[in-house]
Amino acid sequence: MVYRILGKTGFRVSLVSLGSGGHSRIGLATGKTAAESVAVVRQALEQGINLVDSSEIYGTEELVGQALAGWPSHKIILSTKGAVTQDNRLKTARQLEESLENSLRRLQTDYVDIYHLHAVRPADYDDVVSELVPVLQKLKRQGKIRSIGITEAFASDPTHQTLRLAVKDDCWDVMMVGFNLLNQSARTRVIEPAMQKNIGILDMFAVRKALISQENLAAQLSVLYDKGLIDPDALDIQHPLADVLTSSGCRSLTELAYRFCSSEPGIHSILSGTGNIRHLHDNIRDIARGPLPEAVRDKLVGLFARVDCVSGQ
Ligand SMILES: NC(=O)c1ccc[n+]([C@@H]2O[C@H](COP(=O)([O-])OP(=O)(O)OC[C@H]3O[C@@H](n4cnc5c(N)ncnc54)[C@H](OP(=O)(O)O)[C@@H]3O)[C@@H](O)[C@H]2O)c1
Repeated sequence: MVYRILGKTGFRVSLVSLGSGGHSRIGLATGKTAAESVAVVRQALEQGINLVDSSEIYGTEELVGQALAGWPSHKIILSTKGAVTQDNRLKTARQLEESLENSLRRLQTDYVDIYHLHAVRPADYDDVVSELVPVLQKLKRQGKIRSIGITEAFASDPTHQTLRLAVKDDCWDVMMVGFNLLNQSARTRVIEPAMQKNIGILDMFAVRKALISQENLAAQLSVLYDKGLIDPDALDIQHPLADVLTSSGCRSLTELAYRFCSSEPGIHSILSGTGNIRHLHDNIRDIARGPLPEAVRDKLVGLFARVDCVSGQ
């Protein structure tokens, strides 16, 4: 496993990290038992993954807590998130503190390494900074959280309005950004400015739904084609990226998608959101094969250079 330093946090994090949300929720959303979900997390740790991400809204914090029980906490970078609204209003300081306390209880810990404000909408951003960030700064001083993060709602904010604002501020240690080969717009809007400030960057949506299969990808590409955002002469929509896959040496579309993200300067860790142990092993092995050949990466950068309207959701 490759490890990288997560920006200004100084945390040494595995290049592959385990997400317990998304469409899979470590298997809870795909028919797995709680015991099987716990086994996915344990297997991830055994394979060298040291960053596990959850949220108060995923319903997976308790299982992550069970899986991590007994694992030395200094070997884990534990990340979770709190929503910024409750009953359609911005949380009060007390509500946010209660959210964290509940997460700590479910995770069976007295601190988390990264506490993110979850899926912050652009319209809420200014209030979040003035009302909730000071609460997190206090919790950081108290040692209940070791760093302060923010995530975007990539499916509804594929142009990164929230993180474009956030990257101008100095209060964030970590950002979780949507970036994949279909929508690379975070590169110049979020990741490069974040590198200037040494902000830790976690990548989500590397595969999501659109990059799981050729069928899903073809459906996504036809949307982009209809919008005039991709060149049909450069891309065979019936057999999407078949030529790129061959020249890349990748064995699957998911390998191409994960390795595209692992090739991206400024990304410290790629969240893989799986509840399937075979997929977990495949993804770790695939990402360990290293960056894509430069010509393949350049081709993918060129093919999707104008896309910023889809997330791959
Ligand atoms: N706004 C936010 O804060 C936010 C939003 C979304 C996600 N996240 C975080 O980011 C994490 C990653 O989420 P993501 O959905 O973007 O993850 P992802 O890794 O891009 O996609 C996960 C999806 O791909 C499938 N998959 C994974 N490996 C596969 C393989 N080798 N072959 C075929 N299918 C494969 C998974 O299903 P299987 O279970 O079948 O493998 C799952 O449906 C989440 O778990 C969560 O922690 C945060």
